Amino acid sequence: MTTQNPGLFPGLFIAFEGGDGAGKSTQAAELAGALESRGLTVLRTREPGGTPIGEILRSLVLDHGHGHIDAHTEALIFAASRAAHASQVIRPALQRGEIVLTDRYIDSSVAYQGAGRDLGTDAVRDLNEWATAGLQPDLTVLLDVDPALGRRRRTAGEAAEDRLESEADDFHTRIRAAFLDLAAARPETYLVLPAHLPVRELAAHILGRVDSLLSRPHSRTA
Ligand code: TYD
Repeated sequence: MTTQNPGLFPGLFIAFEGGDGAGKSTQAAELAGALESRGLTVLRTREPGGTPIGEILRSLVLDHGHGHIDAHTEALIFAASRAAHASQVIRPALQRGEIVLTDRYIDSSVAYQGAGRDLGTDAVRDLNEWATAGLQPDLTVLLDVDPALGRRRRTAGEAAEDRLESEADDFHTRIRAAFLDLAAARPETYLVLPAHLPVRELAAHILGRVDSLLSRPHSRTA
């Protein structure tokens, strides 16, 4: 299916990915602001979450205090949240011709559960492609963060680390490598940037790439 926004362009689907503390939310907000100031309709959303059921699943899987959650259960909770998000939020917005910016998508599960939890990246990818009926981003912005910098950034504020964030450094090192492997396998749909660059510089790179997508016709097959 090709989504069409009459007179403009098909909806555009952009995912922000990266390790914890990479600055994804800041960059998603920067991009949303830049696009909205041109009168474009932007939907900002996040995973896990983005729907009422997804927000419940988010607290189940991220909050401490639910006892041990085995890796398969964890992967299925993230995939369930994503299934609802894709069908109830992302796909309808794309069909309306909107620009969807999501803070995390399938690559997070491939990296955190597939590589971090050792479930296997192929198995986790297959699960999530099934869950989303094959809905893929047009562009994934990967903010590549050194795990030590990520931890410094997220422990600088008041907020406590969630279940995933509080994993050991080697867990975060495996995740970083998995994200980079995903980007290397399909470079045409990724923009990889070092997360330590200044906010303004990162935002300019991202807007430049998005502009090039907006200026040429594209279509989506799912
Ligand atoms: P996120 O909301 O990005 O963290 P925060 O906003 O608190 O910085 O993500 C929450 C955590 O969930 C993060 O550690 C990554 C993890 N996660 C997975 O392990 N698998 C997934 O599929 C997703 C979407 C997130």
